[in-house]
Amino acid sequence: MPKKDNMEIGLAVIGCGTIGRIRAIMARDYPGVGWLGLCDINEDLGKKLAADVDADFFTTDHEELISRPEVNAVMIVTDENKHVDPTLFALEKGHKHLFIEKPLATNPLDSRKMVEAIEAAGADAVVGYTQRFRRRFLTVKERLSQGQIGPVTTVVTRAFMNRMVPIATIEKTNERNNLTPMVVSGTHSLDMSMWLMEGKTPTSVYAQSVDTALSYLGTKDSTLGIFTMDDGTIFSMNISWALPIVWPGSVYGLEIGIVGTKGVIDIEDTHRDLVMATEDVLGAGYSPEGFKPKFERHVDFLTSYPPGDLWKGQLWGPMREETNAWYARVHTGLETPHATAAEAHRNLVCTMAMDISAKRGERVELPIAEEELGL
Ligand SMILES: NC(=O)c1ccc[n+]([C@@H]2O[C@H](COP(=O)([O-])OP(=O)(O)OC[C@H]3O[C@@H](n4cnc5c(N)ncnc54)[C@H](O)[C@@H]3O)[C@@H](O)[C@H]2O)c1
Repeated sequence: MPKKDNMEIGLAVIGCGTIGRIRAIMARDYPGVGWLGLCDINEDLGKKLAADVDADFFTTDHEELISRPEVNAVMIVTDENKHVDPTLFALEKGHKHLFIEKPLATNPLDSRKMVEAIEAAGADAVVGYTQRFRRRFLTVKERLSQGQIGPVTTVVTRAFMNRMVPIATIEKTNERNNLTPMVVSGTHSLDMSMWLMEGKTPTSVYAQSVDTALSYLGTKDSTLGIFTMDDGTIFSMNISWALPIVWPGSVYGLEIGIVGTKGVIDIEDTHRDLVMATEDVLGAGYSPEGFKPKFERHVDFLTSYPPGDLWKGQLWGPMREETNAWYARVHTGLETPHATAAEAHRNLVCTMAMDISAKRGERVELPIAEEELGL
């Protein structure tokens, strides 16, 4: 039940790219948002979105937007390695309602600094782990909470991704340090697995990686690892984001098996149940400004775009649920399953611990000092 009087939202959206656009359009349609300000360092892109959503304010300077008197909630939807400054500035300005895109940061020292600043400010900061809002995972979470399969002993997670995502994500930046499959994308499936195992803490991880197809981009193809949790549970976390562009999954395909002492839950989220084939050339599932895939795609798993599915330009699915749920969290005080900043920091540390284990070729004990990671 809502816990407080409705608060009219004055929303600042920092970053008007693919995901900022989706969230800003939803803000315009959300009745509790009374004022909407946008910011992007790319003025043409930002002004186009400002016109499309009839924004109340636009600037290329995030400090100017965050400092506006109308603003009481801030969404940070900038590139993976550009979340830190707007977050710290929003906290400095006393903002209490923050939504930050995943990963929280790409450097664990920054990420820890952000969590400490959020906690010191008493702010409610959540992070964009959108898949928590895909309905099948909500029902799994509920069944596990009710203990229907007994204590969980084993979790097996497999994520397969089309290489369009790393190409589009990494080609646009020269700051490629830590843009690995686990840090950028495996973080979603790791967050999901850890959320479903809530209460268990990882105590060690051993992982291996391969970088044959994507090393030219400065990233790896795949990372496979095994975590041991404090109660002895074993968790196998595997991702490859090097599937060829012609693979029908346009973005993400996930499988998770959860074995308990008296039951099992087997999750199939690969989207192979809805396939289209056509002589026409299909576009990229994930296509920031200017990205043109070099191969033609003719077959698509239609629901494999993680944010949701399009109808008349409107997005329906997990990212709508997640975004509107956050507006409700701010507006009415609704309790929501968003990831906290502390969980996002844990996710970053776990994903980087897999990378460091693969680099060293040895098992890494957890917790690990942030200073040892990714450096
Ligand atoms: N939750 C999800 O399911 C999901 C899905 C895709 C991407 N993401 C995440 O969302 C974030 C944004 O991804 P995207 O695909 O929209 O990227 P994008 O490149 O399309 O957009 C990012 C925008 O941020 C702008 N920007 C960068 N620094 C800025 C600053 N200091 N002030 C203002 N604007 C700035 C860039 O100019 C760009 O327009 C990333 O962290 C990404 O990992 C989340």
